Amino acid sequence: FAGEDRGVWRYAASLPFEDGVSLPEGDTPLHTVPRLEDAIDVRSLRIKHEGMNPTGSFKDRGMTVGVRVAAELGVGRLACASTGNTSAALAAYGGRGGMETLVLLPAGKVAAGKVAQASLHGARILEVDGNFDACLDIVAELADRGEAYLLNSLNPFRLEGQKTIGFEILERYQTDYGRYPDRIVLPVGNAGNTAALYKAFRELVASGALDPEDVPKLTGVQAEGAAPMVEAIEEGNEDVERWESVETRATAIRIGNPVNARKALPGIRETGGTAVAVADEAITDAQRALASEGVGVEPASAASVAGLRKLRTAGVVGSDEDIVCLTTGHLLKDPDAAAAAGTEPEPVPADAEGVLNHLRG
Ligand code: F0G
Repeated sequence: FAGEDRGVWRYAASLPFEDGVSLPEGDTPLHTVPRLEDAIDVRSLRIKHEGMNPTGSFKDRGMTVGVRVAAELGVGRLACASTGNTSAALAAYGGRGGMETLVLLPAGKVAAGKVAQASLHGARILEVDGNFDACLDIVAELADRGEAYLLNSLNPFRLEGQKTIGFEILERYQTDYGRYPDRIVLPVGNAGNTAALYKAFRELVASGALDPEDVPKLTGVQAEGAAPMVEAIEEGNEDVERWESVETRATAIRIGNPVNARKALPGIRETGGTAVAVADEAITDAQRALASEGVGVEPASAASVAGLRKLRTAGVVGSDEDIVCLTTGHLLKDPDAAAAAGTEPEPVPADAEGVLNHLRG
């Protein structure tokens, strides 16, 4: 395996192996966004852009560990259910590891870039006439029957790799500002990242590296049409109730049964965070605002910024807070959403005079 002393594998001391099936992943930028910071009115706002990973989403951090474990176990076939990004990452890392990969996708509900990746990286793509949750039920049964090794975030080794998002944020932030952020705002689907970040902070506290007072408030954001975690937080429930019917433009988080809820709910509560649901229009507005500062993200990722904006307006987030928003996937993952949110191309004549005339209106 590629021994990489960078990105995810720089934190090998907290991972189950010294090295992984690596492309390599991690070391993603923590962007400043001064105009958005001003507009939202917080002490500081930075964007941890996980879309800058090898396949364009945070899933790579989990796959480098998960596929390494699969190789160690000698399993033949890897499988996942996916709203798209997991399938792209599994196809790439499975391919890298020389393993057969099977991905189950909700038919017609996965963004074009993600299907293209899964396809070219060599996964067998099975389109299911059902939503993501139905796909995951099937993959879980295939795994139970010994037919495939499951690489959704139900697999705890995936979350081990995703902990490194938290390590990188805290390390970078401390280097740049000499303190830690007050709050980390992130989109929530299966709540894998929420659970992974909480585990990362608990490990840092247990090892004495982080003061419990310095643990950032974990703040989850869901789309209004797929918000079972928000419902559980608002109603004070121990577990989520599955939503059978879900819909949102942010197809990556079109999920009604967040399988890591029981690991993630305590993370939100015990860090003093919260959860909020945002409208699709607010997600698109946030996607435009990020893009106008050069940060290209897919809709689900922009949900974090939309959620921050909503919580700041409501006064739940204060103007004195240092915030990091997690953006989980790259703009090019969903070219159709980007084109719909962006400007229309304008046809012009094929000469300079004609172009100038057009520009003059
Ligand atoms: N953002 C993006 C871009 C995602 O692809 C996902 C999940 C999430 C956020 C939610 O993260 O599950 O840790 O709360 N995508 C999965 C997939 C379901 O199949 O690609 P979570």
